[in-house]
Amino acid sequence: MIKVENLTKKFGDITAVENISFDVGESEIFGFLGPNGAGKTTTIRVLATLISPTSGKITIDNRDIRSDSEYVRSIIGLLTESPGMYEKLSAYENLDYYSSFYDIPSDRRRSNIEKYLKMFDLWDRKDDPAGTYSKGMKQKLALSRALIHEPKILFLDEPTAGLDPESAHMVRNFIENLKEEKITVFLCTHNLEEASSLSDRVCIIKRKVVRIATLSELQNSDKNKRVEIIFKDNALRYTGLLKEFREIKDIQTDNNRVLALVERPEITNPMIIKKLIDNGAGIIYFNEIKATLEEIYLDLIKNEEEK
Ligand SMILES: Nc1ncnc2c1ncn2[C@@H]1O[C@H](COP(=O)(O)OP(=O)(O)OP(=O)(O)O)[C@@H](O)[C@H]1O
Ligand SMILES: [Mg+2]
Repeated sequence: MIKVENLTKKFGDITAVENISFDVGESEIFGFLGPNGAGKTTTIRVLATLISPTSGKITIDNRDIRSDSEYVRSIIGLLTESPGMYEKLSAYENLDYYSSFYDIPSDRRRSNIEKYLKMFDLWDRKDDPAGTYSKGMKQKLALSRALIHEPKILFLDEPTAGLDPESAHMVRNFIENLKEEKITVFLCTHNLEEASSLSDRVCIIKRKVVRIATLSELQNSDKNKRVEIIFKDNALRYTGLLKEFREIKDIQTDNNRVLALVERPEITNPMIIKKLIDNGAGIIYFNEIKATLEEIYLDLIKNEEEK
């Protein structure tokens, strides 16, 4: 659905993104992650045809975004980082105005406006000027605006920033359900729990692409795995035994619990279990703990900084 080849965007001396390439499939949720200033918003702005790339080739729905920008704009919805509304117009009027740019029959326009204002709990306030809305209400209104013309691709730059927990939860559920409507979602977020629960794949950038993978690919790519062992009695009794394995690192104990990093766990874990049992340990629980996206992300970004 989106194909980016060797995109570079410079602002004078600053290179915001350098030679990045990726593909996003139809109805995929593509998490686009990276630290402040990594080039996420810049990439979205290029893809949404708001600014032109310095170099690179980009197609959306198989159309070149430069030569076919009008078509591209008609099939994308965009929630920007700090969305602006016409403050004096009511929420309803704002949506009515924006949707008038698109080729949708007026009754459908009206029903879409109603659908989203109701969905985002703004219907009761639809006649109030957008300028009187709270931050979260403005964010929900901006999301409605991004959706009003039934786009095939939705670019979301921090969609849950500033939302209360209930609204953020609702927006996440909503994003998840877009899959059923075959809508492709390009999701920029600093909320890594949100990214890991929603994204089919994540792309981590820091000016350049650091990594593109599914969460389970990221979790499985590390040869070392964190292991948790719960004993019947105090774990300190067994740390000596564990230290005999050179494959075990970073042993931490807490009452009857041990956390440790194990190299090549598929070979080492059975040996650990045998040794512990041979030495009379009562093991209640032995479990491999998957790294969270946050741990993996921080590790990847740290490695990138040390390069
Ligand atoms: N219009 C502009 N003029 C000059 N520099 C810009 C412009 N827009 C972005 N940049 C620079 O490009 C780099 C990438 O910025 P961008 O907004 O894309 O980062 P981001 O990944 O969205 O960061 P954040 O997580 O803080 O939103 C930054 O160094 C920024 O200063
Ligand atoms: Mg940004």
